[in-house]
Formats: sequence, structure tokens, C-alpha cells
Amino acid sequence: MGKEAFNLREMTSDDVDAAVAIDKKCFGKRDAWRRKYFLAAVMNINSAYLVAEVEGKVVACAGAKIRNEEAEIETFAVDPDYHGLGIGTQLFSKLIDTIKERGAAFVYLEVRPGNTPAIKLYEHFGFRALVNIENYYSNGDALVMMRDL
Ligand SMILES: CC(C)(COP(=O)(O)OP(=O)(O)OC[C@H]1O[C@@H](n2cnc3c(N)ncnc32)[C@H](O)[C@@H]1OP(=O)(O)O)[C@@H](O)C(=O)NCCC(=O)NCCS
Repeated sequence: MGKEAFNLREMTSDDVDAAVAIDKKCFGKRDAWRRKYFLAAVMNINSAYLVAEVEGKVVACAGAKIRNEEAEIETFAVDPDYHGLGIGTQLFSKLIDTIKERGAAFVYLEVRPGNTPAIKLYEHFGFRALVNIENYYSNGDALVMMRDL
């Protein structure tokens, strides 16, 4: 199986270490989610967390918290060694389907305004910029993007 063949499935607590490592590779040690946040998310029945794996290795993670009609995408990252293979698009598509199935009416997320690959992907899925929040991150603003489901 090559890099381009991947499998999507629900995230379990066994995947947390891999998810933390991918987050660190993507966002740096300071901004990466800590282990306890991933673990809490996986245990939370109001969360939907998915991973992509290639040859049994977890290479991407995406997750959302769902509260009644509202869903927030909390994390989305693909191991940089596996970018540009369509994994992000397929994983994000499955996450949106899962959120819809769970009954949310709209979904939103925060992204750095300079993160063009991610913003392009979100626009492709029908997300639109709602508002810019100054100093949302420790070192910059966040763009809030939203779409109805
Ligand atoms: C955003 C991200 C999840 C996309 O994942 P991905 O698996 O590379 O996405 P895909 O392969 O499905 O490609 C999505 C788009 O990005 C482009 N792309 C992204 N990285 C690329 C790369 N290294 N090489 C080629 N194309 C790339 C693709 O061409 C595609 O655009 P298109 O639909 O116009 O062709 C990934 O870049 C990532 O993990 N970034 C770091 C973490 C991050 O910023 N997460 C979002 C936080 S809000």
C-alpha cells in the first residue's frame, strides 16, 4: 500500500500519542494541543474525532465538539509528510458528514488568517469568513469561519 492509500476511522485513546506528535509537527511545541485535551475529547460523548491511517500509521486527525445545534471543529492536522495527497479533504469531508448525522445545524472553526491551504480547503467545503478575532492565539488573530449544514 502506498502513501496515497489511506483509511479513515474513529479516533480512540490509543491514537492520542500519534495525534499529539502530528499536532507538534504542524503547529510547533508551543501551540500544539496537549495530550490531556486529546484524551478528554476522545472520551467526551459530545465529540466526534476521526483519524486517517496509512499502513496502520496514524497520519492525520480531525475533531469537533457538538452541542445541540452547534458544532465547533477543534482540531484538524495532517502530518506534513503526507500533505497534498487528498487525505485532508477526505478526512474533513467525513468529519462534516459525521457532524451532520449527529444533528448539528451549523459548524464553525477558527483559523489563522495567513493559513491559505486550510482556508482554501474550508472555502471549498462552503465555509465563509464570519469575523476576525484579534489576539485569539498567543501570537496572532483568528478568522472565524462558518457554514450551515
Ligand atoms: C490544511 C491541511 C489539513 C490540508 O491537508 P492535506 O492532506 O494536505 O489536504 P489535501 O491533500 O486534501 O489538499 C487540500 C488542498 O491543499 C493543497 N495542498 C496542501 N498542501 C499541499 C502540498 N504540500 N502539496 C501540494 N498541494 C498541497 C492541495 O493542492 C489541495 O488544493 P486543491 O483542492 O485546490 O487541489 C494541511 O495543510 C495541514 O495539516 N496543515 C497544518 C495544520 C493546519 O493548518 N490545520 C488547520 C488548522 S485551522
